[in-house]
Amino acid sequence: MRRPLPVESENRIDPMVELKLPKESRPTEGRTWPRPGGENIQEYRIYRYDPDGGQNPRIDTFYVDTGDCGPMVLDGLLWIKNNVDPTLTLRRSCREGVCGSCAMNIDGLNTLACTKSADEISGAVRVFPLPHMKVIKDLVPDLENFFAQHRSIEPWLKTSTPAPGDEWKQSENERARLDGLYECILCACCSTSCPSYWWNGERYLGPAVLLQAYRWLIDSRDEATGERLDNLEDPFRLYRCHTIMNCSNTCPKGLNPARAIVEIKKMMVERRV
Ligand code: SF4
Ligand code: SF4
Ligand code: FES
Repeated sequence: MRRPLPVESENRIDPMVELKLPKESRPTEGRTWPRPGGENIQEYRIYRYDPDGGQNPRIDTFYVDTGDCGPMVLDGLLWIKNNVDPTLTLRRSCREGVCGSCAMNIDGLNTLACTKSADEISGAVRVFPLPHMKVIKDLVPDLENFFAQHRSIEPWLKTSTPAPGDEWKQSENERARLDGLYECILCACCSTSCPSYWWNGERYLGPAVLLQAYRWLIDSRDEATGERLDNLEDPFRLYRCHTIMNCSNTCPKGLNPARAIVEIKKMMVERRV
């Protein structure tokens, strides 16, 4: 099941492009679950899809007692899971913006459910899986291809000189060049907000993986720069970025993958002259 673009995202795309989902992928109006008593009730509209059910995805409506749970959207989702519908399926682990597993589309933006405050959202909290990915179930996208692409850039230190006795050293300045890169938690919010990745996700590496590639390209200890650039020199793997900037606008860690991509392109040019 290919996940639809949320309405908000559809509106942001080139109006010349008509986006229509195949009939069997169009979400239908789902179940409205009972509203609990109490004064602090917030409505959640949540995408549901069960691959074993043989039915279209649907949007269920839930009511969360915000006086009985924490302030983040993830708290609301877990409250629903614990109190209303235990079959609601989502990923999460750290609950503090570190593991990247709770990335989803909330109120029209890709972000982390554990760091997104439900208070900031006026009206119903609309929760969808990350856009344009295959959906395994409910809010869980299939990230197999994403992580295979990450493996393909060989995200580890590659050296050819003999290893020093103690450790590979870096000056403070060399280490500082990794700031703004090492913080990436591979949540995939950026890649799944990128139109180029939506249409060419099998071949274009996307902003998250390219940011990681750049992180290793500029690591002063790494000795495989030429090989790494060769691996990216391809009409699809790197050059499908058209600097649309959705990626940098959505990153919940405040990183700038679009800039990293520009820097890789500069490295490509510089090694030719
Ligand atoms: S760059 Fe930001 S949005 Fe992209 S994967 Fe890393 S942390 Fe997530
Ligand atoms: S800047 Fe490049 S990677 Fe970022 S959203 Fe645009 S096309 Fe995608
Ligand atoms: S649960 Fe780890 S980032 Fe949200």
